[in-house]
Amino acid sequence: MERFAIEGGQPLTGSVRVHGAKNAALPILAASVLAKGESVIHDVPDLQDIQVMESILRSLGARVTRQGPSISVDPTPIHSTEVPDELMRQMRSSIFLMGPLLARFGSVRVSKPGGCTIGTRPIDLHLKGLKAMGSQIDESHGFIFCRANRLKGASIYLDIPSVGATENLLMAASLADGTTMIGNAAREPEIVDLANFLNKMGAKIKGAGEATIYVEGVPELMPAEHTVIPDRIVTGTLLVAAAITKGRIRLENVNADHLGVVMTKLRETGVEIEVERDIMTVKSSNRLTAIDRIQTSYYPGFPTDLQAPFMSLLTIANGTSVISETVFEERLKHVSELRRMGARIKVDLRTAFIEGVPELTAANVEATDLRAGAALVLAGLAANGTTIVENAHHIDRGYERIEQVLGSLGARITRIRD
Ligand code: EPZ
Repeated sequence: MERFAIEGGQPLTGSVRVHGAKNAALPILAASVLAKGESVIHDVPDLQDIQVMESILRSLGARVTRQGPSISVDPTPIHSTEVPDELMRQMRSSIFLMGPLLARFGSVRVSKPGGCTIGTRPIDLHLKGLKAMGSQIDESHGFIFCRANRLKGASIYLDIPSVGATENLLMAASLADGTTMIGNAAREPEIVDLANFLNKMGAKIKGAGEATIYVEGVPELMPAEHTVIPDRIVTGTLLVAAAITKGRIRLENVNADHLGVVMTKLRETGVEIEVERDIMTVKSSNRLTAIDRIQTSYYPGFPTDLQAPFMSLLTIANGTSVISETVFEERLKHVSELRRMGARIKVDLRTAFIEGVPELTAANVEATDLRAGAALVLAGLAANGTTIVENAHHIDRGYERIEQVLGSLGARITRIRD
């Protein structure tokens, strides 16, 4: 097991480049299965989740090679559409392979993805959409089998604007016979990035990023080259790192359009943010001001993935802040760990009331999931003393070499291996 040791109190200063978005790269790597030939994806972060996706594609027979930040995928040699159970269990996002494998090869077998510590995370909307497109779906022994000679276009309405369901159905509809309409679609930037990649391959997608998306199916898709958008959640996490340490940092490779509400809320605490093209400079204020209300929501609302990192910041803001988590039913597990560091937080169902304290104190804490872990690292950067954050592997799933990135900005953080 690995853990981070963080000596708090160092204001972060300096400049770092933000890596490509994990949550765009994963569906785009899955979509490369649809092409007749080798696609090349650039600025793919070197994260555990990406390595699992590479392993899954290789296990199906695809030729996958990484050269630095670029990954090439040639699905031509694919000989199986059965995603290995042990790899499915490592990463829920393997579910993104259902749409492309079914659309390209007419069948797919996945194991029911485990929920994780942030909620049950069902896939009923994915299955409902694929069924509407003509897929035969059987579930037995913990596996889901989908079969379809040729998917057909359908009108689908999502009860929840699910990111994963929207992405799976976009990929499936690209090769279907006829036109598909996805109503109440997710509008995240990662959906737009996937649609841009699919359209480069020859797909005919209109409306990505809006609530209704139209896909006119085509007979085949060709390989394409694509650079993944910057990771807006990593960007938001680094903005909080500067704010919580009262530092001043410069971020390169940032898309400020993807961070509207996040910048608004940060500015409410007194943080100064300047944007110039893809450069963002953030300067903290001496005493942070509490935020009346943050409510996580679907894009373009406040991103649920930044709820925990923001909570860390608000534990030392002046006044009481309120955060409601409306997307996932169990995404407040970091509260008990932050309390160990002296935070004053009360929780009522899915709402946290955070009463700011002058400073946090170092403690031994445990990361329970990716973003909760990031929140504890952020709290450690500000706490008085040396904080130990257990279960570093959770954090490695979404942040490439986080100790090097933070270390280059002056943080005193080291990775300890057993
Ligand atoms: C994506 O997960 C992201 N992961 C998550 O980021 C992110 O938190 C989430 O979208 C919301 O923005 C990737 O893109 C790889 P959803 P996803 O389907 O697609 C319910 C991170 O930290 N739902 O939009 O799984 C679901 O239970 C990760 O990087 C159904 O009920 O999220 C949840 O309550 C964590 N039925 C809500 O919808 C379904 O069929 C939103 O889930 C699908 C989802």
